[in-house]
Amino acid sequence: MHRVSIYTHDVATQFTSHLFPLYIFCDITRQMVTRTIDLRSDTVTKPTETMRLAMAKAEVDDDVLVYDPTARQLEKEMARVTGKEAALFVPSGTMGNLISVLVHCEIRGSEVILGDNSHIHIYENGGISTLGGVHPRPVKNNDDGTIDIGLIESSIRNPDFEICYPKTRLICLENSHANTGGRCLSVEYTDQVGELAKKHGLKLHIDGARIFNASAALKVPVDRLVRAADSVSVCLSKGLGAPVGSVIVGTEAFIARARILRKTLGGGMRQVGVLCAAALVALQENVPKLVTDHKNAKTLAEGLNKIKGLSVDIASVETNIVYFEILKGSHITALKLGKIMEEHGILLMPDSSSRVRIVIHHQVSASDVQYTLSCIKQAMTGVTDENGGS
Ligand SMILES: Cc1ncc(COP(=O)(O)O)c(C=O)c1O
Repeated sequence: MHRVSIYTHDVATQFTSHLFPLYIFCDITRQMVTRTIDLRSDTVTKPTETMRLAMAKAEVDDDVLVYDPTARQLEKEMARVTGKEAALFVPSGTMGNLISVLVHCEIRGSEVILGDNSHIHIYENGGISTLGGVHPRPVKNNDDGTIDIGLIESSIRNPDFEICYPKTRLICLENSHANTGGRCLSVEYTDQVGELAKKHGLKLHIDGARIFNASAALKVPVDRLVRAADSVSVCLSKGLGAPVGSVIVGTEAFIARARILRKTLGGGMRQVGVLCAAALVALQENVPKLVTDHKNAKTLAEGLNKIKGLSVDIASVETNIVYFEILKGSHITALKLGKIMEEHGILLMPDSSSRVRIVIHHQVSASDVQYTLSCIKQAMTGVTDENGGS
């Protein structure tokens, strides 16, 4: 694999912005520091030096016995930021969603209304039903990640017919909505769904794997954005760039029950402060960088849209996820493009034969974006960009 040096690349661009001179420069100086531009997901980030240092120095104790001070510190901070009473560190977003749904739907045969294009419904192994006995009621997700409020209301089961119907207990939303390209649910929409849930005696859970991205894009603080929710699952290892884990937040009673379920599922970990220390650094260092990630995503989307044979719905790029289409009649498939990019040290995620996903994170720079555009343009059109970008 041809690997790219971010350091050498940056130094080189100070002397020349041409792509090929960049490589000549690298070869002459022999200062190549290998690095891949990994755009497959925001889950691929590596812990920074500050995180590694914090992990090495973390004060730890047994977290199953609720003694780990660094875990307590992270949970306290996450409860504060999200405006909820309490928080719990869990190993993954999948477990965070599973525990949340199971706490709200403790009685087997409960039903949850959720988007038909949501992560919980599509990518979490159907855990809510296989492990929790919860029945999913998928309703249509719009292209902006919302579900029509009327559709949610009409999907709530009529309790008068409980002889046949499962009982609706929960509504789940996802913000930002990954499969629609990281689009954000507005605070007004979320509040309306919260009102509806209250009116019918239901709970509202938000899969907030990327809620900090939504907050940055909407310019609405996280606590305000999730005020209507009874629980939120927040990933630390996506846009925030921590190596491992998620946190679920809710009332004290919700978290007490969640803690027991976490142990049941094998998610109780002992000296977990080592992981929480990195997450605390991520909160401090990377939240302010999300705006830059979104700007880089937009630049990438606009550049891709100018390349012959590609199409991007620019308006849908609200956060750090970019989907692009390879137009019909093109000589290249998404898989082939992915292979060619790999040779340039760029990793992408083909989503279908004609669709590719790119996710920006804090370890992707503006010059990485220009280099990526240049390589994609070359693969699509055979034309090399003179200015190293599109
Ligand atoms: C929206 C959303 N929710 C939940 C998850 C699950 O997170 P994890 O991979 O940590 O289980 C993901 C993972 O990509 C996601 O994108």
